[in-house]
Amino acid sequence: MAQKGLTEFLNKTLAEGEKIAPAERLFLYNGGLYPAMVCRPETLKILDTFEARSDDVVLVGYPKTGTNWVGQILTELATASGKYGEEEWKQKQQKEQELKLFPYLEFGDPDKFERMKKLPSRRIIKTHLAPQKIPKSILQKKAKILVLFRNPKDTAVSYFHFAKGMKLRPSEETWNEFFPDYISGKVPYGLYVDHIIEWNKYLDDKNIMFITYEEIKENGTLALKQIAEFFDFSVSEQEIQSIMEKTSFQAMKEKSPETHGVMGKSLFRKGIVGDWKNVFSESQNEEMDQKFEENAARTKLGMMLKYEEYCKG
Ligand code: A3P
Repeated sequence: MAQKGLTEFLNKTLAEGEKIAPAERLFLYNGGLYPAMVCRPETLKILDTFEARSDDVVLVGYPKTGTNWVGQILTELATASGKYGEEEWKQKQQKEQELKLFPYLEFGDPDKFERMKKLPSRRIIKTHLAPQKIPKSILQKKAKILVLFRNPKDTAVSYFHFAKGMKLRPSEETWNEFFPDYISGKVPYGLYVDHIIEWNKYLDDKNIMFITYEEIKENGTLALKQIAEFFDFSVSEQEIQSIMEKTSFQAMKEKSPETHGVMGKSLFRKGIVGDWKNVFSESQNEEMDQKFEENAARTKLGMMLKYEEYCKG
């Protein structure tokens, strides 16, 4: 029931968003580009009034790095760890529905930060924001943050399909039209490589954990155990296996009409590693490689992304 309400709310917001004139689909705020379908300047303006709690569970990821997937993993881990009983969980979901809270921190209306105060702990908070733009209280309160990355080439391909499917950008476009904007940061949330460089400054913060889409794909059991430990969710081996099944691409895709409404179609696309090989031209590969090598390759975080393994060959 609660889920249905949230889906209806998402569908309604997206239907309204579709009416936005193409030229106004993106807007510039404080030097960053945002999608008008879900973001509003008034909300961004008071983002810093958001009051974090030290037990908030925060997930940060550039668009298309798998934030919906990992968000669901966090929800399942929190549920299984008994932080919420079944009844309590239902109430929490109902509360989210009543409060009309869009699942990402920077989306929706400006009054949401006031309404979020009514949510019981532990709140699961998702955002696509770069660290410089994240509300200060998240870091001040030392809330634990999971930062998600994905190889920049698959991220680009996923972004292209999603932007096209959801009409996020001013025109219906081809991959060859999207790519130059992606590589120069003229997409919502800017240049992906900049997020790597900025997050690299936080590598030694013990309240921040970094993980990649590819790591979870390769060894989900290990990744889920590490995430659970980081957030202090106590879950059994059996629960981890059950969460792996519930959050598999297939399972989430099948459930998406219920969980994500019309957006599900554009969101749950392929869910694989290496799709870029079907899309990138030779010159686009060279451009992306050069961009990564110039700026991020020698950072510690850049190395953690295993660019050679996932973006070459
Ligand atoms: P593709 O477009 O490459 O298929 P986000 O949630 O940040 O918008 O990221 C969306 C990407 O995550 C999409 O990638 C989507 O298919 C993938 N994804 C969603 N759920 C997934 C799952 N359970 N397992 C693997 N990938 C998933």
